[in-house]
Amino acid sequence: MLVLLAPVPAVLGMASRTSAARRFASPRTTRAVSAAPVLRAARAGRPLWHGFAAGATTSASAGGTRTLISDDPSNNVTPYIEKLVGRNLHLIPNHPLFIIKRKIEGYFAELGISFEIFDSLDPVVTCTACFDDLNIPPGHPARKPSDTYYLSEGTLLRTHTSAHQSELMRRGHERFLCTGDVYRRDEIDASHYPAFHQMEGVRLMDVADMPAQLSRDEWLASDACARTAAELKGTLEGLVDALFGPVEKRWVEAYFPFTEPSLELEIFFQGDWLEVLGCGVIHSEVLAKCGLEHRHGWAFGLGLERLAMILFSIPDIRLFWTEDTRFTSQFASGEVVKFQPYSKYPECYKDVAFFVPETWEENDFMELCRECGGDLMENVKMIDEFTNPKSGKRSLCYRIVYRSMDRSLTNEEVDEIQFQLREKVGPKLGVELR
Ligand code: DAH
Repeated sequence: MLVLLAPVPAVLGMASRTSAARRFASPRTTRAVSAAPVLRAARAGRPLWHGFAAGATTSASAGGTRTLISDDPSNNVTPYIEKLVGRNLHLIPNHPLFIIKRKIEGYFAELGISFEIFDSLDPVVTCTACFDDLNIPPGHPARKPSDTYYLSEGTLLRTHTSAHQSELMRRGHERFLCTGDVYRRDEIDASHYPAFHQMEGVRLMDVADMPAQLSRDEWLASDACARTAAELKGTLEGLVDALFGPVEKRWVEAYFPFTEPSLELEIFFQGDWLEVLGCGVIHSEVLAKCGLEHRHGWAFGLGLERLAMILFSIPDIRLFWTEDTRFTSQFASGEVVKFQPYSKYPECYKDVAFFVPETWEENDFMELCRECGGDLMENVKMIDEFTNPKSGKRSLCYRIVYRSMDRSLTNEEVDEIQFQLREKVGPKLGVELR
């Protein structure tokens, strides 16, 4: 997967996640998409769509209380992921993600157009909601099980909060902000974690201001489309100023199947351009699928961790999940404050090399690392690759960096995790250890 900012140090490296638009780029032009996110899981008898606000919990310890793993052949949810579902970090008062969420909601409240708030929608959604409704075609790489956690063939852990757009619009909501945890199988480093949080914003424009029956081309060439895009840009530039102060910004053309035109907003931060959100004018086909062919509007999606890592100077995405009071107590004021690292414990690294089968998917290895080492896995990176010219076999060597956020690790415990990983990687992923 591509990383936006090259060197990893400090907050910037961490703030980088695969560009949202690259994830959705057409399969021909992307490589990030193929290495990106995915989902799984649902119990028999469980409704596919849970009502709004149903079963929401604000307790940090409530995670893992729900069974998402089943013997459904499509189910690829792991115990590690199951424990994260229900943690709802964005609902815990004075958690940095909660503080950012509130700040953004506050900005929209001050605009004088009321946006409804949804922040307790069920993260288990249908493929229809997550992909079909958004014009993401069958076979699109964003749907791959190597990238997404599936509960069953038709249900998954949402990969983005856009999964709620259509359902909410269908129910008559015209202006809303929708926040939630999203899940993607992904690489392991300071800015990538298999669960993170997004906020979606949607605004349908007033009927009276918009021409009703236009062909798609007429719409794209129309003043109304230009006005919608201009309003979108102005609103989001204002949001970024409200969060970061007046920063240098630029708009970059992007591609999302569910908007047209599509854009990304970048800010200049500590010497680099950093993507902060994806957005666009809602695609006419997305609206038509909601029975809203006569309407127009805009939408955006942003990642809360990325913003919080910058604003609070939080250097590692794993910190958001810690219950260590040395972390949580720092944000008791409910304000944006700079995080004071309480200690940097020593790292320890181990390499593992193996021949891989044709069917190799790197994200499967990342998942196994998380399964064995949990949050002690700080970084997993391929450091060597070669193909044996005689046998044609491909060999990969990965470096695994272990570090706890909260304490010093002993050699024995790291050796034990590495041993388990070596034991499991052959049978689980069909590799041959070297
Ligand atoms: N769903 C996109 C993602 O996860 C972000 C996004 C882009 C949301 C454009 C939107 C949008 O609503 O209009 O990367």
